[in-house]
Amino acid sequence: MAKHVLLCPPAHFDVVDQKNPYMSKNSGVDRAKAQRQWQALCSALEEAGCQVETITPAPGLEDMVFAANQVFVGFHEGVGKFIVPSRMVHASRQREVPFYVDWFRQRGYQIIEVDLGAEHLEGHGDLLWHPDWSRIYAGYGFRSTQAGVEKFRDAMSELGIPVVPLRLVDPYCYHLDTCFCPLNNEAVLVYPGAYAPESLATLRGFWKRVHELSADETHKFTGNGIVANGRYLTPHLTPHLETILREEGLTPVTVETSEFEKAGGSLFCMKAFLP
Ligand code: ARG
Repeated sequence: MAKHVLLCPPAHFDVVDQKNPYMSKNSGVDRAKAQRQWQALCSALEEAGCQVETITPAPGLEDMVFAANQVFVGFHEGVGKFIVPSRMVHASRQREVPFYVDWFRQRGYQIIEVDLGAEHLEGHGDLLWHPDWSRIYAGYGFRSTQAGVEKFRDAMSELGIPVVPLRLVDPYCYHLDTCFCPLNNEAVLVYPGAYAPESLATLRGFWKRVHELSADETHKFTGNGIVANGRYLTPHLTPHLETILREEGLTPVTVETSEFEKAGGSLFCMKAFLP
């Protein structure tokens, strides 16, 4: 069955402020190039057998293209397809959330509202499923807050889904998806320098093979790739990553994201897989 994936066209994409360290070197976005890169991502996903669905981009929401952040998407035997709306740190990004919630509501998803109070939770930027849906890894420290992740964990425990909190310590890895990428049920790409020592130890316990990326690979979003039907879509390919992918039986596909990297995001950040 084709994997369905949600993307948001970059019609209003821009870098207008500094939400993360990548955005401080703002050299101006090439809009036409961004559009071409986004189109290439759509094509690469389709060639990998995915069905691409889109949400209408809203004017003034310059980061709405990063479709991984506004809601957490899940599936549960009892509840069916569900989402947990985010409470984003930045005001402009918080305004993106209702658009995504409406999109999912119109398609029959249950909406699990976690009462986050003043805490933050940033969707699949920080919350990643184990590939077999058996647990959720939850990064915190820069965007999602520890208490936000704990409230999320309480809500998921009612569904019997375990949540593993992981403390992030590298400002260039402000979201978990910049330094953690499951390749299959046994193997994960990780940048060890992004984690507090106890969190790194916890994480290792859940994987048979932990492939370590360098700081340089990580800060170029090599680990912010997309696994789809035997392929690994990556913005940059290093000989080291190539070796890892070969070992895991994945075919590398390079999809450039230079314009989106200026906003601190790449391939993984630009989509949400649908159950
Ligand atoms: N400019 C966006 C922000 O700082 C980038 C989001 C990247 N998304 C991600 N899932 N890492 O919020």
